[in-house]
Amino acid sequence: MKNSYSNIFHFNKKIMRKTIKNLKNGDIVGLPTETVYGLGGNAYKSKSVKRIFKLKGRPIFNPLIVHYYNLDRAINDVEINKNVKILYKKFCPGPVTFILKRKLKSKINPYVYAKLDTIAIRFPKHKITRAILRNINFPLAMPSANKSFNVSPVNPIDVYEEFNKKINIIIDGGKCRVGIESTVIDLTRTPKILRPGIISKNAIEKTLKLKLKNKINNKKIRSPGMLGRHYSPGIPVTINQKKYDGKNAFIYLGCRYKNKKNFFSLSKKKNLTEAASNLYKILRKIKKKGYKKIQITKIPNIGPGIAINDRIKRASKSK
Ligand code: TXA
Ligand code: MG
Repeated sequence: MKNSYSNIFHFNKKIMRKTIKNLKNGDIVGLPTETVYGLGGNAYKSKSVKRIFKLKGRPIFNPLIVHYYNLDRAINDVEINKNVKILYKKFCPGPVTFILKRKLKSKINPYVYAKLDTIAIRFPKHKITRAILRNINFPLAMPSANKSFNVSPVNPIDVYEEFNKKINIIIDGGKCRVGIESTVIDLTRTPKILRPGIISKNAIEKTLKLKLKNKINNKKIRSPGMLGRHYSPGIPVTINQKKYDGKNAFIYLGCRYKNKKNFFSLSKKKNLTEAASNLYKILRKIKKKGYKKIQITKIPNIGPGIAINDRIKRASKSK
């Protein structure tokens, strides 16, 4: 361990053994994924799952995603259909989550799926978490490693700042490559995106060879976690801003205000994938610098821009 945080560890065989032992015992650990850092616990154990909800201050009606090493390991928990097989082959391991019908014989703790008849499954790509998943005989319930409503962590220190010493192990897997949470897609009926992510609607349509419905139907919310304010940096955020008002932090695309105080670029090249990967990092940085408000420029609503707009729109909600 070469850092000043006593519970942030570099990955090696010894820390892997210790992590696995902790997980078996029902303890919670901070783990890197390619999207954001997660708060991982044994999905079979009620002790672990209850602890996750408590640490996050998460409402019990908001279910958790179950993480597996591969699709074979999920067959006792969910009904595998044709669409999941196709999407798995194309995108997994990777930044996408599938909602599937739960099997009655599943051993997943009922708090994980909030007593719904579905379970969300995901196969994260980060090599550290894959090594851990490969070596355990239970899946991991793993929400983003932030307190409910906060911005997701993309660095180990972000996790530390959320939970301090309340968790014994945070594994340092570097900065998360994708930087925003996985695309969530409901595959229990006609496929529908519940949470946009870096894997776009377009890419999913192309792979499944069908058209997905255009708008998330807000009247009937199928993903309870998508309710209300979310991803908030803790200070007011206004979006679609054209004019800088002179004292706030201003988030934009490009390099027009390079080296100018108070201006933060999501991507110098205006690349939306890069912008998505920098979003949470920059929101946290601005909060830390003590700004009282954040203005964000209009972000093109295409490709990864759709996911960025989803998150900043939620961040801008006061309730
Ligand atoms: O990238 C990610 O998905 C990260 C990393 C750590 O894997 N995890 C993550 O988990 O974002 P969380 O708990 O922050 O968000 C999970 C989302 C929530 O919106 C939740 O409501 C939804 O998935 N969800 C979980 N189970 C569901 C289910 N059975 N039906 C509908 N939505 C579900
Ligand atoms: Mg979350």
